[in-house]
Amino acid sequence: ASKTSRRPLLCRAQAAATTPKVNINWDNLGFGLQDVAQTMYVAEWSPEKGWDKGALKPYGPLHMMPSAQVLNYGQSVFEGMKAQRSAKGNIVLFRPDRNAARCAAGAERLSMPPLPTEQFVQAVADTVRANADYIPPIGKGSLYLRPLLLGSGPILGLGPAPSYTFTVFGAAVGAYFKGGQLTPIDLIVEEHFHRAAPGGMGGTKAAGNYSPVLVTQLAAKKNNYADVVYLDAKTDTYLEEVSSCNIFVRSGKTIKTPPLSGTILPGVTRASIIELARSRGYEVLEEPVAVTDAMEADEVFTTGTAVVVCSVGSLTYRGNKRAFTAEGQAGSTALELYTALTQLQTEQAEDPFGWVYKC
Ligand code: COI
Repeated sequence: ASKTSRRPLLCRAQAAATTPKVNINWDNLGFGLQDVAQTMYVAEWSPEKGWDKGALKPYGPLHMMPSAQVLNYGQSVFEGMKAQRSAKGNIVLFRPDRNAARCAAGAERLSMPPLPTEQFVQAVADTVRANADYIPPIGKGSLYLRPLLLGSGPILGLGPAPSYTFTVFGAAVGAYFKGGQLTPIDLIVEEHFHRAAPGGMGGTKAAGNYSPVLVTQLAAKKNNYADVVYLDAKTDTYLEEVSSCNIFVRSGKTIKTPPLSGTILPGVTRASIIELARSRGYEVLEEPVAVTDAMEADEVFTTGTAVVVCSVGSLTYRGNKRAFTAEGQAGSTALELYTALTQLQTEQAEDPFGWVYKC
């Protein structure tokens, strides 16, 4: 943060220029806040006025009382999105209406006022344009956007917040996992903890779904696993998802991914990969995937905004490790779908689905 705080705040006209002016090493982007964008968007909701029109302001603290609902009872949903430079010289987002809809669905589940789709998309696009200098050159990474809806008003007894804040901030990022984008990751199947239970909020992008996974994720990382795969809470039999992404399993030309049963995050990348794979001749089934079947599959990969498409090098379950890829080499379908998706996203390939949104 100290590094970035010295950077001048860019006005909108300057930010529209296509050559990034900030002093960022584009060849060394990780997934963190080293290169946090200096302009954020903030809107406020009150019962009298509903959502105000919001405004861009310098990246900085949000003001909340210790009694803020979100700090005590966790009323919070977030989104992950990416802005990229495209081969046609545009600055593009990917299916922002989908994030808006998911944010609104999560807001309903957590008794928060949803933001209108148009305002959500406009807020993200405005934040992107104001921070254009933080969008890496094509192929080097993206400006990761984090829209956040919070019960920011004070309350003591358990109940919904009296007021809400919506904010969007961002940072220039590269690959999510530390080995780099196309390096396969090793995953371990969690045997004790669950990510979500039926009837809970696993199908929303609630902040509260992400802190319970830390204990298992940190333990896994100590043993050199990149992340953890969760099983269903009822039977401990079927794959659910990874802490940070959805999971797919391929055998021959058939790809399976767990269905959206309410405990699985409805990933935008997940939905897109299903359509993209079908359009490329794969049979894609949204049905329960037994962990024992996954251990026998030809290939496993994960998807998410942050991870994009990531090849799984190995799965470890009850002490047995099954390797899927040759050392360091991404699985063939993961590589095919990663390439197809990222080329479409950056206007290097046709977009027959109309998914690319120009800012
Ligand atoms: C994303 O993929 O955008 C997410 O929000 C996942 C998060 C763990 C980085």
